Amino acid sequence: MNKLNILTFPDPRLRKKASPITVFDENLKNFAEDMLFTMYESNGIGLAATQVDFHKRLIVIDVSDEQNDPYFLVNPTFKVLDDTIEHFKEGCLSVPSFFEDIYRPKKIELTFQDLEGKQHVEIAEGVLSVCVQHEIDHLEGKLMVDYLSPLKRDRIKSKLQRKKDDSPKN
Ligand code: NI
Repeated sequence: MNKLNILTFPDPRLRKKASPITVFDENLKNFAEDMLFTMYESNGIGLAATQVDFHKRLIVIDVSDEQNDPYFLVNPTFKVLDDTIEHFKEGCLSVPSFFEDIYRPKKIELTFQDLEGKQHVEIAEGVLSVCVQHEIDHLEGKLMVDYLSPLKRDRIKSKLQRKKDDSPKN
């Protein structure tokens, strides 16, 4: 398995809109496994293909404590079932070391395909609902910082840019 490079805000490639997946082959499975490996290695609970510069609608998620319950979501969509807004301290592997309160609808119905192309419908609440909405945002080129005030977003941007300038070049 390969550890993939994760793009960091404000990389413009994080703004690309992902296109649907139509081919369900071994390449897709291998790439999804690499994404899962990358997510676990980075201690994340979700990763969208956009974040590793692959602009197709693929997400991996694992919200279990033991990291042994992965979800592979292909072409995921959701509809809001309970529009009560809840807030949650969200983090993002593309916005490393920042955790911010983000407000999202509480309960969703999630429709997705698995890596074989079979369709599934599931109800998601709590951290799974938050994570799914966060990752589907990535596929649209949207980031959690977009929910913050411009001032806060700019502050995060300059901190991350400074960090990047300080890091060793190779
Ligand atoms: Ni993220």
